[in-house]
Amino acid sequence: MGATILDGKKLAAEMRADIAAQVAKLKAERGITPGLGVILVGMNPASISYVTAKEKACADAGMLSRDIRLPESATQGEVIAAVSDLNGDPAVHGILVQLPLPKGIDESAVINAIAPEKDVDGFTPVNVGRMMIGERCYLPCTPHGIIQMLVRAGVVTSGKHAVVIGRSNIVGKPVAHLLMRKAEGGNATVTVCHTGTRDLAAFTRQADILIVAAGHPQTVTGEMVKPGATVIDVGVNRIPDPSRPKGYRLAGDVDFDSVSQVASLITPVPGGVGPMTITMLLYNTLAAARA
Ligand code: GUN
Repeated sequence: MGATILDGKKLAAEMRADIAAQVAKLKAERGITPGLGVILVGMNPASISYVTAKEKACADAGMLSRDIRLPESATQGEVIAAVSDLNGDPAVHGILVQLPLPKGIDESAVINAIAPEKDVDGFTPVNVGRMMIGERCYLPCTPHGIIQMLVRAGVVTSGKHAVVIGRSNIVGKPVAHLLMRKAEGGNATVTVCHTGTRDLAAFTRQADILIVAAGHPQTVTGEMVKPGATVIDVGVNRIPDPSRPKGYRLAGDVDFDSVSQVASLITPVPGGVGPMTITMLLYNTLAAARA
């Protein structure tokens, strides 16, 4: 293996220790304990595991979380009522509605119900608009975590060619924006590839920085990567594996074995982007409590 591992778990632990210290200071000086309201609808196993990890991270950082769990059969009105409840709860500074929501619930309608000043996921149109025009806002957690990883690992983005695979509202679109903005961890020339892209490899081979958020394992293999590139794997796929206690193993969107022979820096799955996403949620919740 040629590439150095970009250890998200280690970086996240360092940042979380710093956030925990600031939470303790906020409590001591102003008597405020940051609170995160979490809404989970249904029993999607991946969503349950993400929400559990987010609530544990809150507790570890000295924050409170208020958990609202609704059945798969919940109506859109019931989900929006839960959001309104958290909007009005003074102990809740940040709100997270775990996505995806069950079929039949309009995600935009639910996201639109979140008070923008509590939108620590950075998903509301107000936040997205502010981000796009460079106003103060909550940056979305996964894209912000990726930029923090690049900056803290000393990866130069300015003037480099960053290629993003994926155009979701949660990762692809916002990370492309952050990489292109005139700021630390930005100023890159950005290409966005997606399911309509012809000859994906022709683009990925040009990438100094390759961000893969395709949602499919093995989207990128070694021969698609420029030697020396930095590769960030955002994918989390459950691959059936009877030899594992849980019956599956996690794999990213990148073929780690072949890509790590060619890249200079690579994030593992698990232990790469995931822990940074949760860390940036804590970061935004602390900021919301301070505000
Ligand atoms: N589903 C996948 N990623 C995320 C995230 O960052 N926030 C929320 N709320 N749901 C998600």
